[in-house]
Parts: sequence; structure tokens; C-alpha cells
Amino acid sequence: MKIAIIGYGGMGGYHAENIKNFQKEHGGLELAGIYDIDPARRSAARERGIRAYDTADEIWEDASVGAVLIATPNDVHAAYAYAAAKAGKNIISEKPVAMSTAEAEKMYKAAEEAGVLFEVHQNRRWDDDFLTVKNIMRRGDIGDVYKIESRVVGSNGIPGAWRKEKAHGGGMMLDWGVHLIDQMLQCVDSEVVSVYCEYSYIYGEEVDDGCDLSVLFANGVRYQIVVATDCFRKLPRWQVYGVEGTATVEDWDLSGGITRVVEREDKNLVGVRAGNGFTKTMAQRSESSVEELALPVVHAEPYAFYKNFVEAAKHRADPAIRKEEVLRVFRVMEAAAESAAKNEVIKVRI
Ligand SMILES: NC(=O)c1ccc[n+]([C@@H]2O[C@H](COP(=O)([O-])OP(=O)(O)OC[C@H]3O[C@@H](n4cnc5c(N)ncnc54)[C@H](O)[C@@H]3O)[C@@H](O)[C@H]2O)c1
Repeated sequence: MKIAIIGYGGMGGYHAENIKNFQKEHGGLELAGIYDIDPARRSAARERGIRAYDTADEIWEDASVGAVLIATPNDVHAAYAYAAAKAGKNIISEKPVAMSTAEAEKMYKAAEEAGVLFEVHQNRRWDDDFLTVKNIMRRGDIGDVYKIESRVVGSNGIPGAWRKEKAHGGGMMLDWGVHLIDQMLQCVDSEVVSVYCEYSYIYGEEVDDGCDLSVLFANGVRYQIVVATDCFRKLPRWQVYGVEGTATVEDWDLSGGITRVVEREDKNLVGVRAGNGFTKTMAQRSESSVEELALPVVHAEPYAFYKNFVEAAKHRADPAIRKEEVLRVFRVMEAAAESAAKNEVIKVRI
């Protein structure tokens, strides 16, 4: 299947390289070319030996193109999705698929009516750090998990121009929050019952430069998501709390480990000086009462998303990223926005 990329910026360029490598190593998806509204980006593609269409209409009219990948700013995903569906092309849209749940629903409807596949690139389902966390939960390394902290922190503010503007779907909730919420809903098999969220505006932009989202699931699991662009110190990417231990995945490099309890009551526990006082409660356990384990690391299958897209488009295999899952992420984001606006915990059933 030939695929054309619309929007040849950071992510469009990443996909172009990836698809070329995928075609070389695996086959099944060939890059037809790109279209970008910016002539400079079209020239950049041509310099790299990639065909650049002068208009999007040329893609709709190119019968050899079976699919398009939309990697434009968020506010124009929908218009291209409608046009692609009308032209009978299968569609990959970058995340966040749309600006609202209602718009996302309309996009899926247009694809369904045209009989084309529509899939959202929620690629972080194949991040090794996330797969490793899911593996810890599945194996029961730390017993029943009751709390998960998932955070991404940087100190460079909101990147680029359009991500700082509401009209283009800017803000870090739509940028990173959407990934972390998608991961959350993939690893906790329960209904979301309450949502509390605060956005930050440290850099004075019209959109959020970070967010703190707390979610409670019906099974009692608490999940905290932190996205920050103003934090100059590293913090663990993941902290997972179970009744038998605690796991830390420090970074995308998969450093970290698991501390698991061996003797619940630490008979050798000694108190420590703590600031202007003394504590046993908050002292580190003695070595004999816990064991240190390596993370049960999982590596994702290379090109899993593209492989599934081709299978789903050509052979009607189940798409890896399903409509209900994408819409569910949007409903959590909308509850988060309501919570932030009212400064209240929002009771939901999502
Ligand atoms: N899945 C991921 O991991 C991931 C990572 C980064 C970005 N993204 C998503 O990819 C999309 C693009 O982000 P980016 O970082 O590449 O942005 P970018 O600014 O680097 O690139 C966007 C490109 O789209 C072009 N463009 C703008 N309006 C257009 C239009 N109407 N028609 C055609 N081209 C147009 C711009 O000229 C630019 O080259 C966003 O939806 C973003 O959320 C996803």
C-alpha cells in the first residue's frame, strides 16, 4: 500500500523515515510522497528524494495512493480526514485526533461511511517503559497495584509556535496528556469514577504548559499523571505502588528497579535523624527485610503500529487503536478540563 504524508514537519519527517525503513526491512507500506502547506517543507522533501505533491488535491486524485497520514497541527486533522475519506483513502491521524469528542466522532463517522480504515497514531502504547510497567502489573511482581504515577517532565516550555495557541489545539494536555491518558486506560482494567485536574500556566501562554491529573478507578486504583515543561530536575518516569513492593522506571532508557518486601515487619529497623527530629516510620528498611529485583523489561515489536495498520486496511484485521478507546481518552480529557475550570473533583463513569 502506498501512503502519502500530509504535514512534513517534525512528526511527518519522523514518519517518512520510519516508513522508508519499514518498507526496506519488512515491506507492505511504501511512501508515495508528502504534502505540506509550506513550500520550504516541500523543497526539503524533494532535496531528500521524496516526492512532494503541490496540493492535497493531487493526493486525492492519485489512484496509486491507498492511505494518508495526517501530521499537521491538531486543528486541521479533521478537514484532511473528511477529504481523505471522501477520496476513499485509508487514514492515519496523528494524536490528538481532534479538538473535541464531538469532532472525533464525526471523523470516525466519515471514515465509516466511506468504508475506509481510520486509525489514530497512539504510538506510546508501544513504548518499552510502558510495556515494562504493564508487565510488572501482569506478573504480580509487587502484588496488587494500588497507585501509579506516570510523569513526563522537561524544562524547555511549550515547543514551537502552534502548540502555544488554543486555535491550533495547543497546550500540553493535548500534546502529552493524551498519550499518558491513553496508556492509563490501557493498563487499568476498570471504570474511571473520578477525575481531578489542575493545569499550569507558568509561561503565561494562552494554553496549559503542564497538568496534574488524578484519576480514581472503580477497582480502587489511583493514577496520577504529571506533565511539566518547567521542571529542571529529573523525576522518575514511573512509580508503581503494590502491596508487596514498589517499582520505579526512571526513564525511557529503562533504568530503575523493584524493591519487594520479604519480611513485612522489619525487626532490624533502626530509626534515623530526620531534620530537626527522629523517625522510625520513614527510615529505610534493613536489607534483610526487602529484596531488590531487576525490572522485567519488555521491548516492543518493531513497527507494530504500521504492521497492524496494513493488516487492518488490507485484510480487515482488528485495528490496534480502536475508536471506543480513542473516544474514551477524549472523555477523560473533557472531565479534566471541567475539573480544572471548576477546581472540583468530577464524578464520572468513563
Ligand atoms: N505521536 C507522537 O509521538 C507525536 C509526536 C509529535 C507530534 N505529534 C503530532 O503530529 C502533529 C504534527 O506535529 P509536529 O510536531 O510535526 O508539528 P510541526 O509544526 O513540526 O509540523 C507540522 C507541519 O504541518 C504543516 N502544516 C500546517 N498547516 C498545514 C495545512 N493546513 N496543510 C498541510 N500542512 C500544514 C506545517 O507547515 C509543518 O511543516 C500534531 O498533531 C502532533 O500532536 C505526534
